[in-house]
Amino acid sequence: MIEFQNISKIYNPGTPEAYTALHNISFAVKDEEFVAIMGPSGSGKSTLMHILGCLDTPTSGTYTLDNKDVSTMTDNELAEIRKDKIGFVFQSFNLLPRTTVLRNAMLPLVYAGIAPREREARAIDALHASGLTEEHFSHLSNQLSGGERQRVAIARALVNEPTLILADEPTGNLDSHTSLLVLETLQRLNREHGVTIVLITHESDIAGHAARIIRVRDGIILSDEKNETVRDAATETRLYDDLKRL
Ligand SMILES: Nc1ncnc2c1ncn2[C@@H]1O[C@H](COP(=O)(O)OP(=O)(O)OP(=O)(O)O)[C@@H](O)[C@H]1O
Ligand SMILES: [Mg+2]
Repeated sequence: MIEFQNISKIYNPGTPEAYTALHNISFAVKDEEFVAIMGPSGSGKSTLMHILGCLDTPTSGTYTLDNKDVSTMTDNELAEIRKDKIGFVFQSFNLLPRTTVLRNAMLPLVYAGIAPREREARAIDALHASGLTEEHFSHLSNQLSGGERQRVAIARALVNEPTLILADEPTGNLDSHTSLLVLETLQRLNREHGVTIVLITHESDIAGHAARIIRVRDGIILSDEKNETVRDAATETRLYDDLKRL
């Protein structure tokens, strides 16, 4: 699905402020993988995700997404690819406040020009897949807990039926229990719906839920390994609930 070949990113090239955020990075992600990209602040994670998500282009190197070279595409072509293939989840949920859960989830379909009845049906499916139930649909997004907000944001990322979800610190604003609920949602989407997931985080506890962990630092890949002990968020949530009852 994803192939990065010698990708470099230089901000402000050719100026005194030139800064190389990614140095010759190469890796590939197959369909239906769940990969975490882990590294400290400033290591280049968001830069990497912006390129992966076709929000930005590399300074040099080749990025192939589903056998298409996207590294030299125009902004309009990139926008088409994003709409077709990619769902984004960010640390700040970016929901519209004072707007219902259902409307928030439908929003990308409004922009995509989908008919109202189909919009609603697809938003409802996506909300269910994100672990929300009918009782939430008419709530205003600012009345929800952090974990519920992030699940609405995941539903919104899902309505276009992307094959790839890019999540940049999706649990960054959440406490540990709520983080598990969000990770449980991502793990279920990956296992049951076959969505490829790239999860960006600086926390090893969070990265431990991915099947493969790529460690980055100072714009280079330090290691890229299979995670032999994948944590299961659903099991951890049950344990937490049991402990709370004791
Ligand atoms: N638009 C930009 N212009 C110039 N430098 C930038 C720009 N965006 C990022 N950088 C620099 O590139 C480096 C990598 O930034 P990036 O945002 O990718 O890091 P990160 O790993 O996502 O960090 P964090 O964990 O804090 O989100 C940093 O040193 C940052 O200051
Ligand atoms: Mg970042």
